[in-house]
Amino acid sequence: MKLNALQAGFNLDHIVLESPNPYNLAKFYKEIIMMEFVKKNNNELICEGKNRKIILIKGKKNKLSYAGFSCRSKESLNKFKNFIISNNVNLKKFENNHLKKGSFSIIDPDKNILSFGIRKNSKKIFKNELCMPLQHLTLSSKNVEKFQSFYCGLLGFKITDNVVHENGSLATSFLTSNHEHHTIACFKSDKIGIDHHSYEVGKWENIKILCDYFSKKNVKIIWGPGRHGPGNNLFIFIEDLDKNWIEFSAELEIIHDRKYKKWPQSENTLNLWGKAILRS
Ligand SMILES: [Fe+2]
Repeated sequence: MKLNALQAGFNLDHIVLESPNPYNLAKFYKEIIMMEFVKKNNNELICEGKNRKIILIKGKKNKLSYAGFSCRSKESLNKFKNFIISNNVNLKKFENNHLKKGSFSIIDPDKNILSFGIRKNSKKIFKNELCMPLQHLTLSSKNVEKFQSFYCGLLGFKITDNVVHENGSLATSFLTSNHEHHTIACFKSDKIGIDHHSYEVGKWENIKILCDYFSKKNVKIIWGPGRHGPGNNLFIFIEDLDKNWIEFSAELEIIHDRKYKKWPQSENTLNLWGKAILRS
């Protein structure tokens, strides 16, 4: 039997970022993003908080090494594997140690590596109530159409919203693998790789608390507070030491089987409240 990504139900579990100075970056994630970190023998720095995991390794600045999505049952995972094999998606020979044994990985049209598996629960208990889950990964690509055909057509993520240029080409594609508006998205850009990653903090009050928290830590909000059109979520963005963009989002739309919408590529679409950072 086969299940697509939406039917199997995947959450973003972790992302692995390269950095020229992963140790300094790990200290930033500890001090500012409320995570603890440990160094593994293979030189990975694993930063963890309540339902959030970012792994840092030595390498190029702003480079996504790979990302992992997890689903609840081995049965659903295997049915999803059947689905993508039947669509002739190649499985990559790569063992992702951050998921339980039996995970598998694919490579997308922009050579991003994604793993699918069962979550390895942390043995630690994290008490920080503001440390909320890693929720979505947003990529950037020169060809959003290819991204969308691959993730929707071959993996079975569901399109929830499209942002479209005047000439009809895609500026942004939002896709989901569960009930949340998007678990993965892609912006058209000259840059290929990661655009940002996001933590979902639930409610407006927490965005306010985070703004005050970042102010005390001397970290500037680089965009927002604002509200995105697609997803209707409240947001703020900060940058880490490598200038990776980090989003904190609240009130992200929960999808109840609605058709996808088309939005024009405009400042208003990206931020209903004001200025936008348009990627293309
Ligand atoms: Fe986002």
